[in-house]
Amino acid sequence: MRIFSGIQPTGVLHLGNYFGAIKQWVELQEGNFCVYCIVDYHALTNENTVPHELRTNVKELALDLLACGIDPERSILFVQSAVPEHTELCWILGCVTSFGDLARMTQFKEKARGQEFVNGGLFYYPVLQAADILLYLADHVPVGEDQLQHLELTRRIARRFNWRFGEFFPEPEPILGKAPRLMSLADPMRKMSKSYGPEHYIGLMEPEEEIWRKIRTAVTDMGLTPGQTMSPGVANLFTLLELVAPADVVEEFRRLHTEGKLLYKDLKETLFRYLMAAMRPLRERRRELEAKGQIEEILAAGAERARKIAKGVIKEVRARVGLD
Ligand code: TYM
Repeated sequence: MRIFSGIQPTGVLHLGNYFGAIKQWVELQEGNFCVYCIVDYHALTNENTVPHELRTNVKELALDLLACGIDPERSILFVQSAVPEHTELCWILGCVTSFGDLARMTQFKEKARGQEFVNGGLFYYPVLQAADILLYLADHVPVGEDQLQHLELTRRIARRFNWRFGEFFPEPEPILGKAPRLMSLADPMRKMSKSYGPEHYIGLMEPEEEIWRKIRTAVTDMGLTPGQTMSPGVANLFTLLELVAPADVVEEFRRLHTEGKLLYKDLKETLFRYLMAAMRPLRERRRELEAKGQIEEILAAGAERARKIAKGVIKEVRARVGLD
């Protein structure tokens, strides 16, 4: 498979990002051609992005990704703006994209809602995402559920380009992991996300006490609808437990829940223990990598490899649409 995926440098990497996407990125490195991108152009669509923070966030995120197991020898890891062909392809693809399709994007509508100033980049965001993927002729994209609509649009854009200019782009398929939609612990009706504030995510590299505090105070009893046997908050804790604990431990807790004997405190303590056991090696590796300090070289080498592919594809695209 030809794999492409991207992540925004918006501060911290959280458990939703990790279990929803990054864990698959790491696993897919085995036997596939993988391109992974830190999408800083996309981050500019956020009105709150501050220049010096963006620069630091890119490097911090690169360290996080390496700590999670992205191997720059096997995969191409790079920063989007180091390969300006992304924006060139974005423009060309925009001209085969339906305005109506863009106006229907739920992420756009959510992000634009209630904002005084909605920038054009936010509207065009999914076209840039399509350009990211198609620039590497990727056929598979590991993402969380919130990106499925953008991926469907990518396929429509590829199809329309191919119809007008001849078969060229693949129609990329999503790859979903075991936790395609991890929820916020503070409000389990919403997805885990940085946009809602620090109470709504758990950062991979946060201090242990902070992680424990967030798990300890996780909402458990709210939102149970008639006929449901498990509240959304408890279901979310079980989803997390399944990701980090052995099957027999999960089974035991499920049995206790069915019998009405489950103590949330025990569930939360066990989850915290297994989560930290799973995360500690990554946190350790993060510290080592930070001390080594080769991040700029790694990203520069990644950009060079990415650009070689991007240039070849853009050359072909320019010829097909009549620019060359
Ligand atoms: P971003 O930066 O918001 O998130 C990165 C990845 O994490 C997944 N994710 C989640 N998965 C499960 N549960 C959650 N609560 C959760 N929160 C986030 C996302 O689905 C994503 O896979 N538009 C993209 C970045 C992007 C991209 C691309 C992705 C730009 N170009 C090309 C794929 C291909 C975004 O904002 O992801």
